[in-house]
Amino acid sequence: MRDTVGGVDSVVLRELVDVVGPAHVLTDRDVVASHEVDWTGRFRGSTSAVVRPADTAEVAGVLDVCRRHGLPVVPQGGNTGMVGGGVPLAGELVLDLRRLDHVGEVDVAAKQITVGAGATVEAVQRAAAAAGLRYAVDFGARGTATIGGSIATNAGGINVLRYGGTREQLLGVEAVLGTGEVISRLSGLVKDNTGYHLAGLLCGSEGTLGVVTAARLRLVPSHRHTVTALVAFESVATAIEAVSGWRSSLDVLDAAEIVLHDGVALVASAFGYSLPFEQPCAAHVLVEVSAHSDPTDLLAQAVADATGVVDVAVAHDAARRAVLWRYREEHTAAINTVGVPHKFDVTVPIAGLAEFMATVPQVVRSVEPDAVTWQFGHVGDGNIHVNVTGAAPDAEALDEQVYRYVVACGGSISAEHGIGTAKAKWLPMNRSAGELATMRAIKRALDPVGIMNPGVLLAR
Ligand code: FAD
Ligand code: MLT
Ligand code: ZN
Repeated sequence: MRDTVGGVDSVVLRELVDVVGPAHVLTDRDVVASHEVDWTGRFRGSTSAVVRPADTAEVAGVLDVCRRHGLPVVPQGGNTGMVGGGVPLAGELVLDLRRLDHVGEVDVAAKQITVGAGATVEAVQRAAAAAGLRYAVDFGARGTATIGGSIATNAGGINVLRYGGTREQLLGVEAVLGTGEVISRLSGLVKDNTGYHLAGLLCGSEGTLGVVTAARLRLVPSHRHTVTALVAFESVATAIEAVSGWRSSLDVLDAAEIVLHDGVALVASAFGYSLPFEQPCAAHVLVEVSAHSDPTDLLAQAVADATGVVDVAVAHDAARRAVLWRYREEHTAAINTVGVPHKFDVTVPIAGLAEFMATVPQVVRSVEPDAVTWQFGHVGDGNIHVNVTGAAPDAEALDEQVYRYVVACGGSISAEHGIGTAKAKWLPMNRSAGELATMRAIKRALDPVGIMNPGVLLAR
C-alpha cells in the first residue's frame, strides 16, 4: 500500500516534485487554504496540493502526471472568478499559473504584445501604457485577475461596447491541451485563415480543454483625452434610454455603467464616502469618453440631449475620475460586506432591459421573500449584474427562477463571467441539445481522459 498526503498518492506527489521542484508543490493546509475558496466565499472545496509550474514545459509535465494517474486538475489564475470554476470543489489538484507572468516587449508597429498567462491584466495595461498604447480589456479585478483567467472566461468588463471583450483582443495563444499536445501560435498575424481558430475556442473554455500558457494580444491607441461623468437620472428607464441614444451619437464612448441609489448608498456607507449628489436619485450612469481631441463638448451635448437627467458630475484628471469610478467599481466588495451573494451575471436585449430590471426583484422575492436584490453593471452592452444577498448559498430554487425569467426575456444566463460550476446545471436553458452534444464532443477530443476541470461548464 502507498502513502497518501491529503488524498494524493505520495508517488504522484514525488512525480510532481520532479517536474516543478519541491518548493512549488504546496501541501501545507494553511498555505493551500486561500486556493480552496473563491472570491465571493460561496464556493469552497479542498485540495491535497497546489502545484506552481514556471513555464509551458512544466505545465505540460504536470498535466502528463495528472493524465497518467487520472488525477483531475483545476487551473487557477488570480482566483477572482465569480462562478466557482477555479476552485477545487471535488478535491482536484490546483494548478496555480501565476509564475507564468512574463510580460513581453510591446510591438509598437503591430500594436501587439505577447504575455504569459500568469501576468495580471493590470501588468499588461501598464506595459501598453508605457509604450503609448492601451490594452482595451478592463475591469475592477485588474490587479489580481490574470490574462490566462481572463482568456479562459472570455472576460468582458467596462470597455466592451467600444472594443469588444477578451476574445476580440486575442490574436493567438500558446496552450497545453488535455491531450498533452502543446500548441503555439503567437506570431500575431492579423489575417491568418488557415483552419480552425483554436485561440477562439480556448477563449471561454474555462480550463475544460487545456491550460493557456501565453497569449498574443491586440493593443489599441491610447487617447490624449479621457472624460468621465456621473449622470444622475430620475428613473432606470430614462437612464437606459439615454445610454441607448449615446451609443449612436457618441462614437467616442468607452463605457456606460449603471448603478442604482441603494448600491451607491451601500458603497458610500461601507467605505466611508459621501454620496455623490445631494438629492437621492433612482439611477446613475457612469459614462466615459476618450479621443485625441477633447471630447468634453460632445459629452456635454449628449447629456444635455438626454431626458430625465437630474444632476451631473464631470471629471477630467485621473484622480477625480477615480473618485467617480469608485461608486461603480466598489459594488462587488460592498455587497460582499452584506453577505455571500448569489451573482446573476446576465444580459437581456436592450429593448426589454428596463422592464427586466423593474421585475427581477419581484422574481427574487417570489422564492426568497427576505432576500435583497442589488443591480448594477455594463448597461451599455445590456449586461446587468443582479446580486442577491440574504439567501443560502445553495438556494437552487432562486437560481432557477431568476434564470428562467432571464431566458423568458430572450437573455443569456452568463454575459461575461462564464458558466463554471455555478451555472452548469442551467446551461441547457440557453444551449440546444445539438450545441451541448458538440461541446461534449470537443471536450472528449481535447481532454480524452477527462482531467481538465471536470464539473465546470458541462455538468458531470
Ligand atoms: P480564476 O478565477 O483563477 O479562474 C477563472 C476560470 O478560468 C476558472 O475556470 C479557471 O479554471 C480558468 N483558468 C484560469 N487560468 C487559466 C489558464 N491559464 N488556462 C486555462 N484555464 C484557466 N469579469 C468580467 O468578465 N468583467 C468584469 O467586469 C469583472 N469585474 C470583476 C470585478 C471584481 C471586483 C472581481 C472580484 C471579479 C470581476 N470579474 C469580472 C470576474 C473575474 O475577475 C474574471 O472572470 C477574470 O477573468 C478571472 O481571472 P482570474 O485570473 O482570477 O481567473
Ligand atoms: C463587475 O462588473 O463589477 C463584475 O463583473 C463583478 C461583479 O459582478 O460583482
Ligand atoms: Zn461585470
